[in-house]
Amino acid sequence: MAKRSDISEKIDSATGGLRLRRLRQNDWTRRLVRETKVSVDDLIWPIFVRDGDGEDQKVDSMPGVFRLSVARCVDAAKEARDLGIPVIALFPYTEQAQRDERGTEALNEGNLVCTAVRAMKAAVPEVGILCDVALDPYTSHGHDGILRGDCIDNDESVEVLCQQALVQAQAGCDIIGPSDMMDGRVACIRSALDGAGLRDTLIMSYAAKYASAFYGPFRDAVGSGGMLKGDKRTYQMDYHNGDEAIREAELDIAEGADMIMVKPGMPYLDIVSRLAREFEMPTFAYQTSGEYSMIMAAAGNGWIDGERAMMESITGFKRAGAAGVLSYFSPRVARKLREG
Ligand code: PBG
Repeated sequence: MAKRSDISEKIDSATGGLRLRRLRQNDWTRRLVRETKVSVDDLIWPIFVRDGDGEDQKVDSMPGVFRLSVARCVDAAKEARDLGIPVIALFPYTEQAQRDERGTEALNEGNLVCTAVRAMKAAVPEVGILCDVALDPYTSHGHDGILRGDCIDNDESVEVLCQQALVQAQAGCDIIGPSDMMDGRVACIRSALDGAGLRDTLIMSYAAKYASAFYGPFRDAVGSGGMLKGDKRTYQMDYHNGDEAIREAELDIAEGADMIMVKPGMPYLDIVSRLAREFEMPTFAYQTSGEYSMIMAAAGNGWIDGERAMMESITGFKRAGAAGVLSYFSPRVARKLREG
């Protein structure tokens, strides 16, 4: 027997002979002890709908993401079904001409989102649909609520957001996703839905949504980027705060949220982890447009392996305790999981 070197003696006495690399030596050992697994069931796929027919429109700041006609949204729903993705999140691109001060188009039951929801649910009822509740795709100022002077009026906004939620739920939306960060909106939306006999409509509240630089490409995708007056820091959370996320989530849950969401995702894994542990509620992470585009841009330049970075980032959310992830990568992740 070879004499054990001094360094080996030293290592074994320091670790008590425990060598963690033993479990990493083969693919099969790594698979055997793997703690976190991503499944297609964890995925929510966001898509952008636009008016008119014809070809998918590129979103310049989001390589691989397109604005789809209603017919193409139906195709996406079929693709989600075939891949096994449980939910599609739907966001509208609204032309400048259809926007106004109060976001009136949000309450039009024939608007783009409602039209797409009806078409998708008629063709593919087994795929869930999540709709954002917030006025920014519809307002001329790009804010999520109603402006009074320089300020977003909380209570007046909530009144309109309740109507928006109702219009979407009546069109067949399964999950209402209030992303506006007004105070008290979950309670008001829940009672509006219940009052209209829509007791089964789910609410996934953006419980902790931060005023973030990572939404830039999304605002380009929905056409609200250039027009935003000021910023959203009087209603979206200050990113220096973590305890406040607990208070936000606590309120949303008390007000009737069925699921909660943290947004953005990657720089906020501590918040995902805290909320998932604290409340033991289905807690989702939103991998935002900026996070997506960072990975895509670096991969496009050959600086990182995009596919590996994609899987690593999605797995990170699950490891942090997320029940699932809303990600622009969802169909690609689903295909990757299928390939094995
Ligand atoms: C609207 C909304 C935003 C996003 C989702 N819903 C933008 C914002 O709050 O300004 C961002 C999503 C993303 O960046 O992918 N309230």
